[in-house]
Order: sequence, then structure tokens, then C-alpha cells
Amino acid sequence: MNVLVVGGAGYIGSHCTRQIIAAGHHPVVLDNLSSGHREAVAIGTPFYHGDLGDQALVRQVLRREKIDIVMHFAAFIEVAESVAMPIRYYKNNVVKTLALLETMMEEDVRKFIFSSTAAVYGMPETMPITEGVKKAPINPYGQTKLDCENILSALAVAHGLGFAVFRYFNACGAATDGAIGEDHAPETHLIPNVIRSALGLAPVIKVFGTDYPTPDGTCLRDYIHVDDLSRAHIAAFDRIGTPGTQLHFNLGTGHPHSVMEIIGAVEKLSSKKVPVEFAPRRAGDPPELCADATCARTALGWKPLFTSIESIIETAWRWHSAHPSGYATR
Ligand SMILES: NC(=O)c1ccc[n+]([C@@H]2O[C@H](COP(=O)([O-])OP(=O)(O)OC[C@H]3O[C@@H](n4cnc5c(N)ncnc54)[C@H](O)[C@@H]3O)[C@@H](O)[C@H]2O)c1
Repeated sequence: MNVLVVGGAGYIGSHCTRQIIAAGHHPVVLDNLSSGHREAVAIGTPFYHGDLGDQALVRQVLRREKIDIVMHFAAFIEVAESVAMPIRYYKNNVVKTLALLETMMEEDVRKFIFSSTAAVYGMPETMPITEGVKKAPINPYGQTKLDCENILSALAVAHGLGFAVFRYFNACGAATDGAIGEDHAPETHLIPNVIRSALGLAPVIKVFGTDYPTPDGTCLRDYIHVDDLSRAHIAAFDRIGTPGTQLHFNLGTGHPHSVMEIIGAVEKLSSKKVPVEFAPRRAGDPPELCADATCARTALGWKPLFTSIESIIETAWRWHSAHPSGYATR
């Protein structure tokens, strides 16, 4: 398969690109480098520096590279920023996705894999979360992803688009060979921040809320290794060929960990103390988010290979220790 990886210079897209190659397919990356890194793209992979909303460019890439499947990772991803700047988020995440899909329909490319998020569920009342749980995002970021999901369903009906939507829980970890890892600016994710704090590269870790109804009072999240996420995407290639196919999958391990457990695991692995400051709860943080990923397991024959949080954190620790400033380019 010739696979267009939109956002393939970003954290998850760059790991997925390497998995696509490992599975014997041919990735092509399109990325505007607004937050991605050119050196994260696997060497030898055709790279187009441009915007996913640029329909002339996308058309040219689809034709020249004879693209069979489009995987779409490109988005703005910060919840707090989406609350402050919703127009920026709706434009990049929804309007440009619509332009991409329109070009695909015009060029008769009808297989699509989309990065969605647990944020589409908002503050779910039941745990673990199955795909059928009510979608009620509580911020513009989550809403942009749900809007895209709804657009995909309409295109499946009207134009025979076959798609798989993956709702990620907390993506984390780095390539096992240490070649690529997570480098967001600013970094809002817990594991890289705790590791960088242990390394003396980031400030004290603020723990928001210690009175949640969880075993140690801090929030529980479902951490899934980025290579496990990627393998699920590739397993879906064979499942979206029938026109009009609509698939939705949660991706998580189903074994959540608390903020204090993550801090403890990093301290144990690194033999370093993580400076911690306790702060009140943040608005909009559910006590627990845990995936029921039974659908992905049964329909795709997928299962996470990184089953312990220690093994995940170890890959991230190696990347951050070897790349204290992240990638060279910003
Ligand atoms: N990281 C997580 O834990 C997580 C969780 C749930 C969902 N997701 C989703 O997964 C996807 C990837 O996340 P990530 O952590 O790799 O983010 P990232 O910021 O590292 O990667 C996004 C990539 O898209 C590119 N991009 C953004 N807008 C673009 C545009 N208009 N045209 C071309 N390229 C553009 C960026 O330059 C970047 O390389 C996102 O859609 C995100 O919403 C991530």
C-alpha cells in the first residue's frame, strides 16, 4: 500500500511511519512542520512540506505517489489553547480536514484512518469506556475531533468512504531503538514532563487534585505505547476496503495509572527524586479515563505489546536522556 501520512513529522505520525515501513508498505509524509520535526521522518521517506488544507498540493501528492490510503494525524492538540483560541482549532482541525477529504473524494482515494481522542467522551459516567458511550466533549479540541468523526460518517454514506477512527487515550513512550521520541513545545503530557523534571530539565511537577475518588486521590489515565497505537492502525488497512465501511476503536491498555504512580515509576527507574507540588483540581479533569479496547482486540486481532507502565516509561526515559533538548529543529 502507498500510504499518505498527514502529520507524519509529529510524535505519533513519525512512529507510525516507521511501523508502516516495518510492515512492508510505502509511506509518504505531508506535514507543515507547525509542531513536527523534519528529522523525525524516517530516512528515505518521501516528504512534502506543506499544509493539509492546500488542495492543489494534496491533489499532486495523491496522484504522483499513487496513494491508496490516507492516515490523518495532523491537528492542533492542546486542550487549554483550544478553549482560548477555538477559531484556530476549528480551522486547522475541521475546515482543513474537510478540504483534505474533498480532494480525496475528487481523486477517488476512499480509504481513511483518523486520529481521534478520548476527549470526545468528555466526562463519562461509566468506566471503562466503550465506543458506544455518549460523546459529549467539554472543550473545543474534543469537539473538533467529534466533528471530523461525524463528517466521515456522512462521507461513508454519500461517497463510499471506508474509514477507521481510533480514539487514543494517553499516547506515550518512544521508539525502542531510541531513534525518535516525543517532543512537543509546550509539552503538556505527564510522562515526558515527569522525566524531564527528574533530569533537571523541567520545573517542579504540579499534581492537580489529590482528593479524587481514586486509590491515591490523584487522577487515573490509560497510558498506551505509541508503537502499540501504530500497529493498530496498520491492522486496519485490510478492514476499510469495502466502500462505506465505518469503524470506531478505542485504543488503550485498559489498566489505568494514577499521577503518583507515574511519578513513582519514573523515580524508581531513574533513581532520582521528582520535585512535586500539590495543587487544587483543574476544571474539566475527570477522575478516571480508562479504555475498553475489546473492539480493537476482536476486530483487528490487536493487543498492546507494552503491558507494563515501567516498560513504556523506560523507552521514553532513554529518548529524553539522550535528547535533553529534544530534536535539533524547532
Ligand atoms: N498525543 C496524544 O496523547 C494524543 C491523544 C489523543 C489523540 N491524539 C491525536 O493524535 C494526533 C497526533 O498527535 P501528536 O501527539 O503526534 O501531535 P503532534 O503535534 O506531535 O503532531 C501533529 C503533526 O501535524 C502537523 N500539522 C498540524 N497541522 C497541520 C496542517 N494544517 N498541515 C500539515 N501538517 C500539520 C504538525 O506539524 C505535526 O507534525 C492528533 O490528531 C491528536 O489530536 C494524540
